[in-house]
Amino acid sequence: MEEPGHPFHRELVRRTGHRVVPVPVDDRGARTDLPAALAAVVVTPAHQYPGGATLHPERRRALVEWARATGGLVIEDDYDGEFRYDRQPVGAVQGMAPESVAYLGSVSKTLAPALRLGWMVLPAALVGPVAEEKLFADTHTASLAQLALADLLTSHAYDRHVRAARLRYRRRRDELTARLRTEAPRVRVTGIAAGLHALLLLPEPDPDEGTVLDIAAGRGLALQPLGDHWHAPDDAGHRRPQGFVIGYSTPAEHAWSATLDALVATLHAAGA
Ligand SMILES: Cc1ncc(COP(=O)(O)O)c(C=O)c1O
Repeated sequence: MEEPGHPFHRELVRRTGHRVVPVPVDDRGARTDLPAALAAVVVTPAHQYPGGATLHPERRRALVEWARATGGLVIEDDYDGEFRYDRQPVGAVQGMAPESVAYLGSVSKTLAPALRLGWMVLPAALVGPVAEEKLFADTHTASLAQLALADLLTSHAYDRHVRAARLRYRRRRDELTARLRTEAPRVRVTGIAAGLHALLLLPEPDPDEGTVLDIAAGRGLALQPLGDHWHAPDDAGHRRPQGFVIGYSTPAEHAWSATLDALVATLHAAGA
């Protein structure tokens, strides 16, 4: 699993009894010099979480080659591919190797995470076993919600909603980056070409995440530190980059500008 990556997913895999091996990430996405002994690799190729890189075409090819050579499974988590701001949505790795890739998406970013609706595109050999596991895990997903989603899809209301939401979120993203550029210019903003979050990297060596969290709490603002996303302390004892994952879609419309003010004021007060 990607390092840094989604802490909840890492724990989820660990709880199934699997050993989790960190796969380092850089500005081309997940590194693909993978050990052959892995059973599966979980990646976010369209928009690495939380760093925001798009998986480089050479790495896509390397992933597929690794899967074909070892029989390993690529689990492609496409959690926010609908929100791409710089170009057309990025193609899925699944299309390059349908028999080696399990492609996962959901409506959590487009509609609401509360719905718990999603989809999987699986290698043919996995459809039966996964359906059976799901049956014995939760019987089935709520039928009424599925029917409502089917109606949204077939009436094209879903597409219209995503297009309108994309414009709204893009506006928020632009406001966030413009404010940071002028009011917290030492903060580096990455990962903003897609999705609903930005990664804000703090200047070195100060302030650290703890200092910023304390100031934010005093202003009634909760922030998610990058520190939550690492598997373990750096082997060599190096200090990890310090930063925050900012989900700019989260505040309600009426609360957005006050939340943005509080964030910018927090970073400014912390000397960032
Ligand atoms: C990396 C990543 N994958 C997947 C998801 C979506 O998870 P779910 O569909 O279970 O709500 C998220 C949501 O925040 C995410 O950040």
